[in-house]
Amino acid sequence: MYNSRISGMGFFVPEKVVTNDDLSKVMDTNDEWIQERTGIQERRHVDTDQETTTSMGVKAARQAIERAGIDKDEIEFIVFATLSPDYYFPGPGVLVQRDLGLPTVGAVDIRNQCSGFVYGISLADQYIKTGMYKHVLVIGSELHSRGLDMTTRGRGVSVIFGDGAGAVVLSREEDPKKGILSSHLHSEGQHAEELSLIAPGMGKRWVTDILSDNDPEDTSYYPYMNGQFVFKNAVVRFSEVILEGLAANGLGKDDIDMLIPHQANLRISQFIQKKFGLSDDQVYNNIMRYGNTTAASIPIALTEAWEEGKIKEGDLVVLAAFGSGFTWGSVIIRW
Ligand code: UT7
Repeated sequence: MYNSRISGMGFFVPEKVVTNDDLSKVMDTNDEWIQERTGIQERRHVDTDQETTTSMGVKAARQAIERAGIDKDEIEFIVFATLSPDYYFPGPGVLVQRDLGLPTVGAVDIRNQCSGFVYGISLADQYIKTGMYKHVLVIGSELHSRGLDMTTRGRGVSVIFGDGAGAVVLSREEDPKKGILSSHLHSEGQHAEELSLIAPGMGKRWVTDILSDNDPEDTSYYPYMNGQFVFKNAVVRFSEVILEGLAANGLGKDDIDMLIPHQANLRISQFIQKKFGLSDDQVYNNIMRYGNTTAASIPIALTEAWEEGKIKEGDLVVLAAFGSGFTWGSVIIRW
């Protein structure tokens, strides 16, 4: 058995900055409400038809591969987490294989929304642990802006989400005390519809239903979130799964050097920070600048924290996520 470690990281966000004031020009919202409830000041939206979830993921991946110091042909497997794929099928994993010009390596797509990256790391880690692969590319990328209801009707959701991508290369680590120590995954499908996008889906509403109804009041193809219910579950599950990860390694709250939470809401991160008695330097937040980029939020934050010198060798780094499904999880890393 081997361990895996993050050997390279990268991220990409579109250039176009959309401020809260920009949003207040197209819907009934305001900077004060958004900042007070979410901490978000601005987010990025793609500004060209050429940019897709895959193209952003590829840019982040190129940077991660370069920083890992390997040739792209050494990547043996691709894991792509997103809720906003370019196509209904095939998923973006194979598009990355094509666009990066990789050999015919395996590619898998993960549909776990805000927890997608944590699930992806866990999956990749298992392949490396068993010795099957030495280098696995894990991408989280989202293009939300084209699919949001940018009217007052959709304001409870559309002010929150932003576009962007992050990627890491996970590589074999021979030292059992270093790298990914453990990962912890959960789901509770009972609450599937509380944070969801129902259509188009074969279960209830396909594209032909939407077209034939031609109903201007139809919101089934926009994301829906029962915000307060999701918030209440998030704070509980974040705490639980971080504690679970620490306990599995015989560690406690005081051992955390850096917590990188999924950037769902600054208030959630602050709640967790307080509960775990962490300082501002021990919790990395960038939701103020990028909004919630779901599967991309952790790899973007992780890369920025590392670029800013906030993660050092030997640090205990904790990744934690909660979101649609509900799904949630944590990853405990000795850097
Ligand atoms: O990433 C996956 C996990 N996601 C989360 O964990 C998110 C969890 N939930 C949240 O972050 C918060 O619930 C939200 C930020 C989504 C919403 O905040 P809230 O404090 O729960 O607000 P609310 O939905 O209860 O809405 C309060 C009021 C409503 O007006 P009334 O009914 O009280 O008159 C909304 O219509 O705020 C109104 N409102 C807005 N007003 C201005 C909703 N969205 C907006 C808006 N601008 N954008």
